[in-house]
Order: sequence, then C-alpha cells, then structure tokens
Amino acid sequence: MRKLNNILVTGGAGFIGSNFIDYLFNKVSIKGKVVNVDKLTYAGNMENLEHINKKYGPSGENRYFFEKTDIVDYESLSKVFSKYDIDTVIHFAAESHVDRSIHGPKEFMETNIIGTFNLLEVVRKLWGDRKDVLFHHISTDEVYGSLDETGFFYENTPYDPRNPYSASKASADHIVNSYFHTYGLPITMSNCSNNYGPLQFPEKLIPIMINNMLEEKALPVYGDGLNIRDWLYVEDHCSGIWKIVNNGTIGETYNLGGENEWTNIDLLNHLCEIVAEKRDKEKDYYKKLITYVRDRAGHDRRYAINCDKIKSELNWKQSVTFDEGLDITVDWYLSNTSWIENIKTGEYKKWIEKNYN
Ligand code: NAD
Ligand code: TYD
Repeated sequence: MRKLNNILVTGGAGFIGSNFIDYLFNKVSIKGKVVNVDKLTYAGNMENLEHINKKYGPSGENRYFFEKTDIVDYESLSKVFSKYDIDTVIHFAAESHVDRSIHGPKEFMETNIIGTFNLLEVVRKLWGDRKDVLFHHISTDEVYGSLDETGFFYENTPYDPRNPYSASKASADHIVNSYFHTYGLPITMSNCSNNYGPLQFPEKLIPIMINNMLEEKALPVYGDGLNIRDWLYVEDHCSGIWKIVNNGTIGETYNLGGENEWTNIDLLNHLCEIVAEKRDKEKDYYKKLITYVRDRAGHDRRYAINCDKIKSELNWKQSVTFDEGLDITVDWYLSNTSWIENIKTGEYKKWIEKNYN
C-alpha cells in the first residue's frame, strides 16, 4: 500500500469529488491531510462538505482544507502545492455535462485540457524525479466513443470521442499518459461509466428526473429513449479510485463500471415507480409526465464497460445493486429538497459570494 500523506483533490466540491472526500474521512478513515481545490463553478457546492469542514477543517482536527482556486491559474495552483507539501493528486475537476459542452465548448477545453496540463506542469516542476508521489486522473468511458448493441469498452479500446466533453477528456487523458511515458511521472488513471447517487447536480439524468417528478414537470427523454448507459453507484466509484491510488500499477488505466446497462426509457419508467411508491402515489402516476423531446446532437448510442482488470488485479467489486443504490439516492433527494432549492433560488450562490470572493 502506498503512503498517501497530503492529498490534493481537485473538484472536491462537485458530485463525485465531495462523495470521495466524505469517503476518505468517513469510510477509510485516512490519517493525513486533504486539500480540496475547487473553482466553485455552478456545479461546485460547499454545502456538500459542511459536515467534513466542521469536524476535520481548521477549527476541528485541522486536516481538511479548502482552496478556492481555478486549475487554469498556474501561479495560484503552485502556491497551494507548496503550502501543503502535496504528495498525491486525485484529479476530478472538470466541466462534466455533455449538453453544456454542446452549447458552449470553450470552458470544457480550458478546464479539462489546459487545467489538467497546468496541474501536470506544477507537479513536474515541484516533484522532479520523485517516485513516492502519485497523480491519479479521473476520466470517463465516453472517451471510447459509442457502441452498437454488442461489445464492451476495454482499457485498450481505441479512443473515439464524439462530443466536446468527451473530446476534452480524451485530450486530457492523452496528456496525462504522455507525462508518464516522457517524464516518468507516477500516474494512474480510471475511466468510469455513468455515476449516480446523492449530491449529483440536477442536470444529469437521474436527479433531473427526480426533481421534475417532485415538481410535476415534464420528464424529457431525448430521441427514442433507447440509448443505453451503464450505471455505477458513486460510492463504488470512490472505492475503485481508492483501490487504484493505493495499489494500482503506475502508468496503468483501470476501467470502472456497474455492469448494469439500462435504456434511458426503461430506467426512467423504473425510477417513476420507485418515486411513486415512496410518495404513496399509484404505480404509474409519474409516467404520464414522460415527454419525448428532440435528440441530443451526436448522442452516443450505447456505453458498456468491461471492468475485469480492476476486479482481478485489485480485488474491487461493486457493493450495491442498482435497486439498493437507487433506493438510497431517491431517499436522499426526497429528504434533501432544500439542497436543490438552494441551487435553484441562488441562495447558495449568494452564500459563496459572501464567504469566498
Ligand atoms: P461535477 O460537474 O459535479 O463537479 C465538477 C467540480 O469541478 C465542481 O465542483 C466544479 O466547481 C469544479 N471545477 C470545474 N472547473 C474547475 C476549474 N477550472 N478549477 C477548479 N475546479 C473546477 O462533476 P462530477 O460528475 O463530480 O465529475 C467529476 C469527474 O469525474 C470529472 O472529471 C468527470 O469527467 C468524471 N466522471 C464523471 C462521471 C459522472 O457520471 N458524473 C462519470 C465518469 C467520469
Ligand atoms: P447524462 O446524465 O447527461 O449523462 P451522459 O450524457 O454523460 O451519459 O445523460 C444520460 C443519458 O440520459 C443520455 O443518454 C442522455 C439522456 N438524457 C435524457 O434523455 N434526458 C435528459 O434530460 C438528460 C439530462 C439526459
């Protein structure tokens, strides 16, 4: 097992990053420091980590620190690295929503490509030839492109990104790999399928649908609803990353997935029934809100991941079934309506402006 003393997590205020920081303190009880570097875009939410800040932040155990920093800003990043003597980077920060990348790709190129490049440059300069350090890069299965009805993405599947989001992530992945081959930087990488769970911003499929059901608004299904995604519960993504950063082979990529493929329409019908049951409505109550809308441009048809490598090499496996994960997720959204309300009313944005600008 590697020694991970001072861990810098980028994008720790986002969906997976904040679940990961919670996982570090509450599930694997790390002993060292965690520094969360986040620009707090629309998707970054400090509310996600209030409980961690209270217990582990500067007025608690003094092991959790937040730095509002843009990874595109090289100078500020360098200062953070020096201040905390960072030996491990776990890089989540990204613009992450495909629809947004179609409407405005620029920020995707800046954060996902230039931001990743900056991080690599900072560590190249500060770490030199050190081998007791690690840069773990979080990527997506979307870099592999789109599948027909059969087949799976493997770690050696050629890259074939087809939208600005996946193209920007693919670029970043290549740059990270190049730093391993060219400079010998100790890196690992993971490419994961669609995540779901608590704290996901209500623009992605599952939370937007739950939110719209609660508001009795249309449930927009793109195209024919037969696109297929593989779904992994966020905590299982976190446990996979933790396995890799501790025991993964340097220079290697590991695929992570749920082995859990659903067409969007089947998933939505299922979700409608779960929410109806929890809210004492008749079984098909929310299904009447399902509305087919114009398809997403360049909509990838199917993602499906083979994750045998991490299972056999690092002994990772998913810990919850889809029904168990959905149950936890729906319960979370039903009992945290103020979390979404704060995002929608701008209360949260005002709070950030007051406290962090
Ligand atoms: P998210 O959009 O919820 O969070 C992204 C976080 O990054 C936010 O807190 C945001 O403020 C921060 N950020 C954005 N630009 C930044 C910048 N320039 N500098 C510093 N911080 C910045 O995203 P997520 O769903 O948590 O995804 C996290 C990572 O996991 C991304 O790299 C994404 O590509 C990858 N991933 C996501 C999924 C998924 O299903 N959500 C699946 C596979 C891989
Ligand atoms: P999304 O959650 O945006 O993730 P990704 O595009 O990264 O896979 O979308 C998941 C699937 O759901 C994708 O096929 C697009 C579809 N979708 C809808 O049909 N309606 C929606 O409102 C959204 C957000 C997504």
